[in-house]
Amino acid sequence: MKALSAALALIAPVQAGLRFPCSTLTIQRLDPVVQPGSNPSTHVHHIVGGNAFNTTMTGDVGERGTCTTCQMSEDFSNYWTAHLYFKHPTNGSYHRVPVLPVQPLLGGSQGAQGGITVYYTQFDLSRDNLNTQKITVFKPGFRMTVGDPGRTTKPITGLRYQCLTGNNRGAEMSDFPTKPCTGGIFTTQHFPACWDGVNLDSPDHQSHMYNSKRSDGFTNSAACPASHPVRVPQLTYETTWDTTKFNSMWTSGAPNPFVWSFEGSSGYGTHADYMFGWKGDSLQRAMAKSECFYDGCGSITKQAMATANKCTVKDQVGEATEGWLTKLPGMD
Ligand SMILES: *[C@@H]1O[C@H](CO)[C@@H](O)[C@H](O)[C@H]1NC(C)=O
Ligand SMILES: *[C@@H]1O[C@H](CO)[C@@H](O)[C@H](O)[C@H]1NC(C)=O
Repeated sequence: MKALSAALALIAPVQAGLRFPCSTLTIQRLDPVVQPGSNPSTHVHHIVGGNAFNTTMTGDVGERGTCTTCQMSEDFSNYWTAHLYFKHPTNGSYHRVPVLPVQPLLGGSQGAQGGITVYYTQFDLSRDNLNTQKITVFKPGFRMTVGDPGRTTKPITGLRYQCLTGNNRGAEMSDFPTKPCTGGIFTTQHFPACWDGVNLDSPDHQSHMYNSKRSDGFTNSAACPASHPVRVPQLTYETTWDTTKFNSMWTSGAPNPFVWSFEGSSGYGTHADYMFGWKGDSLQRAMAKSECFYDGCGSITKQAMATANKCTVKDQVGEATEGWLTKLPGMD
């Protein structure tokens, strides 16, 4: 996909799902999906969404949340990924890479601070096709992950990197850029869109889902198999990592110096976690409609990002994740 503004100009009338910013909620070593009850979890996460976020999360998150960093004010879900770090090529120290709001968003970043842009699409970037494909939304307690920090080969379709230059996002790649990017590094994570219809979770947090995605970008996933027959919204995260202040330390010809918070040996370990937390039937109301693209719609409510930005949670781990660090938090 090229500049989104160009794509948007081609879409009239717009339909096909939600797209909205969520500011950064917290950056710490907690993971209530993969390592519930562990404080700290193994690696640092960049987390957005509702303030029910906690070491362990059970039950109806949407009913417990009282504020959210997302623009959709009934969305108390949590969305998170590993955090990106710069590893100094000569002295080996690590520095957290700042996060910028994704650009362009309709009306600019709307005051989002860092954060993730979240999509719930019904079909592809420009159509909902609701008459051919029924969308069932997630239930309270639902959670899933996509990708795997331990993956060292064979990238997963829909987990991608782009090298930003100005408004140009460049080609989608399955590993980190090999040259400095003047506009930062853009990451996208598309989740599976087929559910078994029964389990809110599974031991590996993935087998209750089936990934029928066959191509990158905001394309419709292929038909769901009999084992996972229920079509859910195609959930996608986008993050802009502001790598620019590290570019001068990336000596010409040296390998990519950016690493995820678990380090890994390549970019193939990119992954993302989701904890459903929409209040009541708000997501179902949005997904059953054609008019909700980009800007929400009459049936779900939005808040000003200035309000969203006031939502916080406690740092429960209490360790340095910022500044020059001789090792990544949790890594020996
Ligand atoms: C997080 O969990 C702890 C321990 O169960 C609890 O005391 C605390 O109130 C929870 N915080 C939130 C925001 O739910
Ligand atoms: C590594 O280099 C950075 C940037 O010059 C510096 O701030 C940091 O202190 C250095 N780390 C060590 C361990 O010398």
